[in-house]
Amino acid sequence: MPGLTIGDSLPNLKVDTTHGPINLHDYVGNNFTIIFSHPGDFTPVCTTELGAMAAYADKFAERGVKLLGLSCDDVPSHKEWIKDIEAYNNGKKVTYPIAADPNRDIIKQLNMVDPDEKDPSGQIVPSRALHIVGPDKKIKLSFLYPSSTGRNMDEVVRALDSLLKASKHKIATPANWKEGEAVVIAPSVTNVEAKQMFPNGFETAKLPSNKDYLRFTHV
Ligand code: BEZ
Repeated sequence: MPGLTIGDSLPNLKVDTTHGPINLHDYVGNNFTIIFSHPGDFTPVCTTELGAMAAYADKFAERGVKLLGLSCDDVPSHKEWIKDIEAYNNGKKVTYPIAADPNRDIIKQLNMVDPDEKDPSGQIVPSRALHIVGPDKKIKLSFLYPSSTGRNMDEVVRALDSLLKASKHKIATPANWKEGEAVVIAPSVTNVEAKQMFPNGFETAKLPSNKDYLRFTHV
């Protein structure tokens, strides 16, 4: 059975967090929300990742995006670990909640299990999974990294900016796109529609096929 993936609805689970119990759908509310998991508390890469998320929290808040971390250990353990994360990150506060999952029910339902890692007691642990959930509670994008590879938060912001733009306009973002650069017009949009939809105009790449599918604009 494939696990939770893009297009699927986020299960509306009740979760214990460092900010108290939450329901996932209530937490998402009308916001895009990033839910990101970590193999375990007091582990080195996770400490850098949660610190990096804390450092980027203002960038996500500016975009109206909420954050929810997850690690399998319990809430008291998370609260102790946060002291290390903040100290390592020059005192930058971890302002987002971190969910606990001591029974490993949540990570199974959110497709966040690392098949190759176990904790010292032999229990499954989370991979470095990251889901971006839309206000409609559907998964819009997922990253799935193994324990050995810490994530690049600039890429999370870049992908988020692409999603936010594509949620407002009929566009997509090309390879290595960065905020401020040209975007491409979605293939479903005709040239006639594009002239009305994109007041900045658009440029069509000249290709050997003479097909006019690669159209750049700015939104
Ligand atoms: C880490 O966060 O450093 C880590 C956790 C589990 C396995 C490997 C690395």
